[in-house]
Amino acid sequence: MFTLDSIVPWGRSFDEYRRMFALTEDDLGRRMLGCGDGPASFNAEATRQGCRVTSCDPLYGFDRSHIEARIRATYDQVLAQARLNAHEFVWGAGIRDVEELGRVRMAAMQTFLDDYEASQRETRGVDLYGPRYVDASLPTLPFDHGAFDLALCSHFLFLYSTQLGEEFHLAALREMCRVAAEARVFPLLELGGTRSPFVDMCLNDLRSAGFDVAIERVPYEFRRGGNEMLRVRLP
Ligand SMILES: C[S@@+](CC[C@H](N)C(=O)[O-])C[C@H]1O[C@@H](n2cnc3c(N)ncnc32)[C@H](O)[C@@H]1O
Repeated sequence: MFTLDSIVPWGRSFDEYRRMFALTEDDLGRRMLGCGDGPASFNAEATRQGCRVTSCDPLYGFDRSHIEARIRATYDQVLAQARLNAHEFVWGAGIRDVEELGRVRMAAMQTFLDDYEASQRETRGVDLYGPRYVDASLPTLPFDHGAFDLALCSHFLFLYSTQLGEEFHLAALREMCRVAAEARVFPLLELGGTRSPFVDMCLNDLRSAGFDVAIERVPYEFRRGGNEMLRVRLP
């Protein structure tokens, strides 16, 4: 079973975010917040296409060389786990084998690293929207109520259920719904590939708080069975 002791920096691409969260053209025109975006290239690529994305992650408290070293340390660990548990993944046109997984992920993370460094010299838009990469951690974010239209969280909540625990999940989801009109989380699986035990509890908690909550199938499946996202909206 695929396992990791701690939460690792490991990043996906814009195209993967688009499919994991079933992002439409309308969604891409909205003000988006990526929670726990880490070294994903979503912000870099989306910004290049004219989207407005803020990413928050405690990783952004560190400089490029520190993050690069952490990615290098993570690389061997994740690839070794993927090799051992290859049957838990859907290998196909996008990523055919473990070697290609390594290349695709490293390319996305390289795009992030270059953009992260460049963003520190950026002035355009910063006065209006703030920096694109913010050193901040769930479950307490430094953003105003409703500052964003859409908050996304990929491969952090639910995936690290054991490490984060029940209270953290409840508080983090409520916080995402405080700062954004809509929140989406992908996947609903834990690291081992089974559905997180916190999904139903979070769903009930948010419904009882008056949110419109749905579990939706998305056009993305890399971990076998990982093809659903949680969508939470104010009715
Ligand atoms: C596996 S990476 C996922 C990165 C990206 N979202 C993706 O799917 O490609 C998990 C990220 O969660 C971040 N993280 C850890 N604790 C966090 C917290 N309390 N709030 C937000 N992000 C956190 C880590 O720094 C790491 O970058």
